[in-house]
Amino acid sequence: MSYDFKTRVSRKNKGSSKWELMYEWNPNVSEGVVPLSVADMEFKTIPEVVNGLKKYLDETVLGYTKATDVFLDTVVSWCDRRYGYKIEKEWIVNTPGVVTAFFGAVNTFSEPGDGIVIFRPVYYPFSMAIERNNRKVINCPLIETNGYYTIDYDKFDQLTKDLKVKILLFSSPHNPVGRVWTREELEKLAKIAIKNDIIIVSDEIHCDLILPGYKHTVFATVSKEIEDRLIICFAPSKTFNLAGLGLSNIIIKNKKLRDKYIDKMTTLRGLSINTFGFKACEIVYNEGEKWLSELLEVIDTNQKIAKEYFEKNFPKIKSPLIEGTYLQWLDFRALGLSNAELEKFLHIDAEFFTDEGYVFGSEGSGYERINLAAPTEVVVESLERLGKALKNIYK
Ligand SMILES: Cc1ncc(COP(=O)(O)O)c(C=O)c1O
Repeated sequence: MSYDFKTRVSRKNKGSSKWELMYEWNPNVSEGVVPLSVADMEFKTIPEVVNGLKKYLDETVLGYTKATDVFLDTVVSWCDRRYGYKIEKEWIVNTPGVVTAFFGAVNTFSEPGDGIVIFRPVYYPFSMAIERNNRKVINCPLIETNGYYTIDYDKFDQLTKDLKVKILLFSSPHNPVGRVWTREELEKLAKIAIKNDIIIVSDEIHCDLILPGYKHTVFATVSKEIEDRLIICFAPSKTFNLAGLGLSNIIIKNKKLRDKYIDKMTTLRGLSINTFGFKACEIVYNEGEKWLSELLEVIDTNQKIAKEYFEKNFPKIKSPLIEGTYLQWLDFRALGLSNAELEKFLHIDAEFFTDEGYVFGSEGSGYERINLAAPTEVVVESLERLGKALKNIYK
């Protein structure tokens, strides 16, 4: 491995959302504990970004910034090289994050009171985007079979026949269950969306984080027809741990939809981008692929370690391997604890900091989402600390 995925970086008192949350959950947490919740990484920043931004800072003026042609060409090339997805520069709309982008899409493409479909358990800001825009959450829960999740197409069809249902907010790959949707699955969804006149906001922020044996299909590559009703959300922020720089690339081929979106986002002031965001994206899309492939090896190692740890020591806790993202979905239901009891046990007794499954919808009750993007030593330590506490309650 040529990059450093081992050094621990303390983020204590550095304003990290994840670490601050840990101190809120347990103010007396032991020194050295690293939280495994919020989806950013506990690795040193990719050196190409550190060096590239230093150089950029030496040369630039920190004024208002627009996307340059070089930046746009870099995004076009990344989509083609990695996914065989051919886009034009004009299709790219930059927003300061994917959450901003889908809040804006809900606002642009539906009216107050309209229904927006989500597949719970799912990234919880989806519900926030719907509710805070005064739209209606239409839940079409995923079907779970022995820890494997699939889409309920019949229910999706039935729900979207309603003319007041306008949008599907879709997570691909799916956070938190770690599915990488296949082309066949996307084709089935597309067919229903076209038939029932639904726009799809396809949040593909995790698309570069695909584990061995799986392949991401950009939704737009399924058919020209579906491409015309898609808002696709890409970003370098999950892939290269750049969330603090706030930059995402939203691809909208359909000019009518794109003009409407830009118009609304201009009103919402949702199009201003940090100059470092553009530059960092350019750097990682040009120079980051080796770092990314090594990162994926670490994530894969960590998920296998977690799976084997539970199988060997606490087999009633299920920790199936994921196909994509760096978030593993652990099933603690066998402990028979309420959400509040499980939370207290993990945060206080075990000092094991994950995201509670119920925040992704009631379907997630009894589950925990663990963030695997940390040095392997940290993951092992966390599991062992959890194991010590579990021995007292595991039957
Ligand atoms: C599915 C999904 N969308 C969006 C985001 C966050 O996007 P951003 O930081 O670009 O707003 C996350 C972060 O975990 C995510 O999992």
